[in-house]
Amino acid sequence: MTSLKPRVVLGVGAGIAAYKVCELLRRLTESGHDVRVVPTAEALRFVGEPTWAALSGHPVSSEVWDGVCEVPHVRLGQEADLVFVAPATADLLAKAAHGLAGDLLTNTLLTARCPVVFAPAMHTEMWEHPATRANVATLRSRGAIVVEPASGRLTGRDTGPGRLPDPAELFEIARRVLAGGGDDLAGRHVVVSAGGTREAIDPVRFLGNRSSGLQGYALARTAAARGARVTLVAANTALPDPAGVTVVRVGSAVEMREAVLDASAGADAVVMAAAVADFRPSGYRASKIKKAEGAEPEPIRLVKNPDILAELGTLRRPGQVIVGFAAETDDVLANGRAKLARKGCDLLVVNQVGENLTFGSPDNEAVVLGADGTSTDVPHGTKEALAGVVWDLVNARLKPDATA
Ligand code: CTP
Repeated sequence: MTSLKPRVVLGVGAGIAAYKVCELLRRLTESGHDVRVVPTAEALRFVGEPTWAALSGHPVSSEVWDGVCEVPHVRLGQEADLVFVAPATADLLAKAAHGLAGDLLTNTLLTARCPVVFAPAMHTEMWEHPATRANVATLRSRGAIVVEPASGRLTGRDTGPGRLPDPAELFEIARRVLAGGGDDLAGRHVVVSAGGTREAIDPVRFLGNRSSGLQGYALARTAAARGARVTLVAANTALPDPAGVTVVRVGSAVEMREAVLDASAGADAVVMAAAVADFRPSGYRASKIKKAEGAEPEPIRLVKNPDILAELGTLRRPGQVIVGFAAETDDVLANGRAKLARKGCDLLVVNQVGENLTFGSPDNEAVVLGADGTSTDVPHGTKEALAGVVWDLVNARLKPDATA
């Protein structure tokens, strides 16, 4: 009996990042995809055949000589709905660009008529080498999707572009491409804020909050996977830069205001997922505050920070879609509706927060309120899933001719 599940060929190249692809495979199988793993022979030095076979539930081969009666070197590519190669090494990109067919994976790439995605991972020098750039350009000109690698820590001590994006990011790309809506935000520029601002008291202390930045990063990743040009304004996060996203790092609310307003001037949509401190200490003490023997500590006077979301609402250019987040502990919906009206945004994502809710958790649950009176429930799920709903709602509000 043939499977009705979407069929994915997961090609694995010989890079250390192969270990991350186990997680991608798990996400694909758990979400109902039928995955055949085709590693190169060298890739098996990093992660062995039993791991791929156990996680995929199918036999695994690198060679065209196994099971020849079923003609796997042609059949796998012909029957696939998606071929996803991760990590795509410099060697594999070169072979694919030149149409070499020395093993099962390269044969599959030549016989595939479905979308093909390459997720490269290699050292920065190799990624930036003119030979690799030319191979990537060739593959893209033939319609393959070549994902931009993430920037960050590489295998050794060095850092730079060349990291394999996180499995969640790769999964989102695979899901979108399979849904046929891979690039519904292509031609759009979106700005996302993430993290929590820190308001300095003295050189060693600050007022801060518990935001991890996970939701904002999920929004940035998801928009990039859907083809948008993304500027991510990140306050005090410890997360790797999402692939293909321009990251602007800020510390305080005042710095965030400047960066967000600057990036938003020509943007199609702005999503304020950051937890911005409402107040900051009225004066910054240039020296560390010391304990005075026998005296009570001096109170810290606070002054109001600018409300960036409200300002975006008043500055908005025609057609621009503005989205806010509301973190509430009590009367979640009533407070959310009042906030939507007060801040003048198009959409407000309302979620309940507390000691063990939302902050730092990979999951979220929310209601998205629209200025047009709509209300969309997003059941408990990943922050990626919530991000997907937000972009669907934003996309529905963007003017169709804005990218023309
Ligand atoms: N926000 C902002 N600038 C601020 C405070 C908040 O842009 N100074 C944005 C947040 O990024 C979020 C939204 O406003 O998108 C709501 O944040 P929240 O802290 O829930 O709202 P407040 O206006 O601070 O309301 P309150 O604290 O009274 O609930």
